[in-house]
Amino acid sequence: MNVELREITADDCARLAQLEEVLFPGDSPWTLSDFVHEIAQSHTFYIGAVITTAEGEQLLVGYAGLAMLGVATEPEFEVHTIGVDPRFQRRGIARLLMDNLTHIADSYGGAMFLEVRTDNEPAVSLYRSYGFEQIGVRKRYYQPSGADAFTMRRSPQLLKK
Ligand SMILES: CC(C)(COP(=O)(O)OP(=O)(O)OC[C@H]1O[C@@H](n2cnc3c(N)ncnc32)[C@H](O)[C@@H]1OP(=O)(O)O)[C@@H](O)C(=O)NCCC(=O)NCCS
Repeated sequence: MNVELREITADDCARLAQLEEVLFPGDSPWTLSDFVHEIAQSHTFYIGAVITTAEGEQLLVGYAGLAMLGVATEPEFEVHTIGVDPRFQRRGIARLLMDNLTHIADSYGGAMFLEVRTDNEPAVSLYRSYGFEQIGVRKRYYQPSGADAFTMRRSPQLLKK
């Protein structure tokens, strides 16, 4: 399967909202207008993973968003979201997306932060494999489900020259 990464545009936001409904059903999935708002911010970076179907159409099957926070000389990063169409999970697409997000943070030398449901084993396992460590628990962070979240942090890693 050939997967290409590209920056998310406003034209992708309806598809992102559709994927959110499937991926985060009990946790206030982001809407089309949430995505339109977020991608327009100068401090955010959203990427999509696209495949070409047998019919020759481009289909967005994964996405991830990163925000750069704090002062420009010493930024920190927050992973906003990551998701992969269930039909295309477990094929390394999240890894492609996370490789890019971590590379951006590492190129600035900034720590990364995120929240993840404590019962979301696939995502927690993904994040741990990138060096994220649990730093706290936020009770009832997700609504309306009331699920708890781990807060996780990843130290910046030196990039090879
Ligand atoms: C988490 C998610 C993004 C992973 O996407 P994916 O493309 O299937 O992941 P990959 O195939 O790139 O796998 C990368 C790593 O994630 C972890 N992982 C992915 N699916 C997993 C599963 N079902 N069980 C355990 N670990 C899993 C593993 O560490 C895996 O590495 P490995 O293949 O070397 O074992 C996907 O399951 C998803 O979209 N979940 C719903 C949305 C979500 O929960 N997002 C995170 C919100 S904080």
